[in-house]
Amino acid sequence: MTIPNTTPAPSAAIQPQTHDEFYSTAYLAEYYDVWIGSWTDTELYSSVLNETVSRTPATDPIIVLDIGAGTGRITHALAANLPKPTKTSNVHFLGVDNAPHMLERARTLTDPSHAAQISWILGSACDLTSLPSFRDEGLRVDMAVFACGSICHMYKPGQAEQVFRQVASVLRPETGRAYISVLKMGLAETGLAGQMETAQPEGLVRSKAFGDIVYREEWVRQEIVDCVWHNTRHITVVREMGDGTETVVEDNYAVCRLRIFGEDELRRAATTAGLRVVEVLDRRNDAHDELVFVFEVDS
Ligand SMILES: C[S@@+](CC[C@H](N)C(=O)[O-])C[C@H]1O[C@@H](n2cnc3c(N)ncnc32)[C@H](O)[C@@H]1O
Repeated sequence: MTIPNTTPAPSAAIQPQTHDEFYSTAYLAEYYDVWIGSWTDTELYSSVLNETVSRTPATDPIIVLDIGAGTGRITHALAANLPKPTKTSNVHFLGVDNAPHMLERARTLTDPSHAAQISWILGSACDLTSLPSFRDEGLRVDMAVFACGSICHMYKPGQAEQVFRQVASVLRPETGRAYISVLKMGLAETGLAGQMETAQPEGLVRSKAFGDIVYREEWVRQEIVDCVWHNTRHITVVREMGDGTETVVEDNYAVCRLRIFGEDELRRAATTAGLRVVEVLDRRNDAHDELVFVFEVDS
């Protein structure tokens, strides 16, 4: 599959597509990238990895697991910021995501000089131990990252606990650390739950990868049911033609479901799953505040 970067044949009748997941076309994957922009969480994760590199003998492998890797933003930055002699040596990245279009974009955006040390893996955060790297090769993770509040995608009952159990199983005992972010706007205590039902997105956003594409978004239905924010997002992908007219390339109705966690609830779920909170980092990325929970395996 390739990212569409040439003019698709304009169709007179583009049918609205309803997706049960949000990141489900190549354009929606790029739209995510435009939204996330240049968050500075990569600096935190890079400095943690580089410290790990500095105290690990060059002959010992260092395994980094990027959970919900998306379009590869975190892994790409970590690979690019490694100290130079290490760039091609003992650090290996596993980028796991269950959205094929996001992973395809991650692959496309991979710097060829890092390709040998990155594996992009289609798989679920809820089932890490069934991935060949863990099940067959017995790898253990030195640093796991679940960035950008993505834990909130675990909206079904028990799903977050399941992810924590999986992380506890693959993390290297004693020295492995997992960095799991939750955005404050999605937290029950500090969040915007009240405003979520009335909030609206920016409206029109210009693509950065495809010169003549703009994204139009409106939220057509929002509700919070049992601590899950259900948001039906109508995202139209529009090609601006040279003559001032425009063509609709995609007409997406994408349902986004995010769990609103309480901070204590997250701590309890992680503890029950066999993780121990080492520290909680209170950070800001552009306009978004987040807490990053740092976990180790509870021995
Ligand atoms: C907010 S994006 C974060 C992407 C990337 N980590 C970043 O920080 O830019 C959330 C990602 O989590 C992925 N995701 C959601 N549920 C998942 C699951 N059960 N297993 C693996 N990935 C999942 C989505 O497909 C999406 O790419």
